[in-house]
Amino acid sequence: SPARRADLLLKEMTLEEKIGQMCQYVGPGHIKQNEQKADQNSSDMGNIDANAFGLKSQAIIDKVRKGEIGSFLHVLSVDEANALQQVAQQTRLKIPLLIGVDAIHGNGLHAGCTVYPTSIGMASTFNPDLLEKSGRETASEMRASGMHWAFNPNLDVARDARWGRIGETFGEDTYLVTRMGTSLILGLQGRDGVEPDRVLACAKHLIGGGEPAGGINAAPMDMSEQKLREVFLPPFISAVQSKVFTVMAAHNELNGIPCHGNYWLLNDLLRDEMGFKGFIVSDWMDIERMHSMHHYLPSEEEAFRVSVEAGIDMHMQGDNYYETILTAVRDGRIPETRIDKAVHKILEAKFLLGLFEKPVVDIPATRKLIAPAAHRETALDAARQSLVLLKNDGLLPLKKGAYRKIFITGPNADSQTILGDWAMPQPDDNVVTVYEGIRAACPDASIDSLCFSGVITSITPEDVEIAGRKAQEADLNIVVIGENSQRYESKGRTCGENCDRDNLDFPGLQQELLEKVCASGKPTVLVMLNGRPLSIVWANEHVPAILEAWEPGMMGGQAIAEVLFGDINPCGKLPVTVPYNVGQIQTIYNHKASQYSRQFALGHTGPLYPFGFGLSYTSYQYGKPALSKDKIRKDESVTISFDVTNTGKMDGTEIVQLYIRDEYGSITRPVKELKGFQRVSLKAGETKRVEFAITPDDLKFYTVRKLWEVEPGDFTLMVGSSSADKDLQKLALTVEGD
Ligand code: IFM
Repeated sequence: SPARRADLLLKEMTLEEKIGQMCQYVGPGHIKQNEQKADQNSSDMGNIDANAFGLKSQAIIDKVRKGEIGSFLHVLSVDEANALQQVAQQTRLKIPLLIGVDAIHGNGLHAGCTVYPTSIGMASTFNPDLLEKSGRETASEMRASGMHWAFNPNLDVARDARWGRIGETFGEDTYLVTRMGTSLILGLQGRDGVEPDRVLACAKHLIGGGEPAGGINAAPMDMSEQKLREVFLPPFISAVQSKVFTVMAAHNELNGIPCHGNYWLLNDLLRDEMGFKGFIVSDWMDIERMHSMHHYLPSEEEAFRVSVEAGIDMHMQGDNYYETILTAVRDGRIPETRIDKAVHKILEAKFLLGLFEKPVVDIPATRKLIAPAAHRETALDAARQSLVLLKNDGLLPLKKGAYRKIFITGPNADSQTILGDWAMPQPDDNVVTVYEGIRAACPDASIDSLCFSGVITSITPEDVEIAGRKAQEADLNIVVIGENSQRYESKGRTCGENCDRDNLDFPGLQQELLEKVCASGKPTVLVMLNGRPLSIVWANEHVPAILEAWEPGMMGGQAIAEVLFGDINPCGKLPVTVPYNVGQIQTIYNHKASQYSRQFALGHTGPLYPFGFGLSYTSYQYGKPALSKDKIRKDESVTISFDVTNTGKMDGTEIVQLYIRDEYGSITRPVKELKGFQRVSLKAGETKRVEFAITPDDLKFYTVRKLWEVEPGDFTLMVGSSSADKDLQKLALTVEGD
């Protein structure tokens, strides 16, 4: 077995060889690119810190030859991956390299691979099966690209819209994050642990980074054990139960102890209590930051040692780790048994993946596995399902052929910002922009455009005036604005990792652009491409149709055109609450009852758009729900059932949601919590019966007795089309005491 083979190999290894396996570096090709950019003093470095790359590219290759590196991340191509593996084959034991990549929505860091919608868009589909399928496809494209390990799923529960990484998550709800994240693990790894032709998944970031103080990435997290266990931990528990093989620690400190040095978190909780059996990787240079950023430890050397002691098994990127750990083991400050434990799991992963048998990729044989038509079809399907219609005064669906002159404007209309974060620039032929989608949908229309090549900050007041004039001349205007989260082409990034914001408005002059186009009085559609909720109060009042497209990936432009012109009926629902403005934060739907016992002076009550909300071109009617019993014992289950009818004229899919409120608890309960959802496809006029089984697990919480248990008492069950009270039908359920 892989574990047995790892045992035997470990026995052969010197201490130096073992510690080499714990070291991960960024690919030398990537480093070389950045060296060149730095040499040219290029402004094209984006958020990439040139100093973060210590060793030069050639020195890294030398380290591979000496067996001092066991893993890489961000290797640029299959050729580079093969070349590195060939170097590793020259070492004494010929241990293959494990190559990781941020394949967050497809293997988008490699040119030519399929790029699916980003995670927030995937979450808007409420379709875990589709996500599993995209994970399976991603794994196959990764293996064909020489990659073996996806740093995904991101299981952060995102509860602050200022935080730039919201788009990389499945949103604000623990249940939805758990369902989506678990499906992705099964897609990437396989249904029962790691299958040889798939890749390792990585549950990240443990833990609590989704609600950083002030919305700033990596800011401290102080939280009660209650919140940790109820809000942030469940997706990780499910990940471990699904045999996720790796976990990445979070940047932040947890109650004063950085996650990378937190023995309780990484051992007592993750390994002993939750039963995690794989290995833990650090986040990029976050071990060093226990010294430099957190001021937790007085030196980097001490940080390296403490991280190993605390449970980190592999160090991501940076120098001096190898030498420091080697010295610490020789000096007896780290027991070699601890090193053996870490290395055993890393070797086991390499055996599981079949890397010893086949370290290099047979490029001619696998080329056909990259972005085949079937994967592009999945990306298109996902994009269609991810689009959330926020407002429609009746302008949509647009009538094909009715508009002779169309004006398309906005920095996101015709650029690769549609791909989102964690995507390299892709061949233009692989990407359908909104402009191209509309162009294809309206072959006979004359289309004018002003698109700014994705550079939000390049819009000038003169451009706004020009757009206003062009809008007046058109019979239809489509404004495509939002944010830019692309990290590899620095064109004024406003969103993504380390791109947090103190307001939620459209950056640059996009608001002015929108207002000017609307002032033309011509029909105007707003299409938003963005990675986080934006407060669009003006648009909500003045624009007749608003489509939240998130970052829908390579086929996004086609899907958007199909929805605007009614070929596809939109069905996505918001996986996050959209606030009126930044001052409303925190606006999560599952807040405590006392949250709004007082109101903001002159402020808004409730969010701009609630969690779970999304319109359709048809209408759905919910029948009166019925319970199989209205009184149960605490170990019993109950069924809620009701009819849903498509009362409109178009076929559609409704995402039916179930929420539960425990009215009184030994720890106060949220006003409602999502406990189930179903995608129900209905032909026009059709009715279907929907049923949810509610088990004791759905009624449990982490009580004052520090146990997951059902407390007898009153519960309210709610079913409907969004989390807003007006969209829900309620029923009472009593759980009787012993
Ligand atoms: O995987 C990521 C992580 O989520 C954030 N920091 C960098 C890592 C590697 O790119």
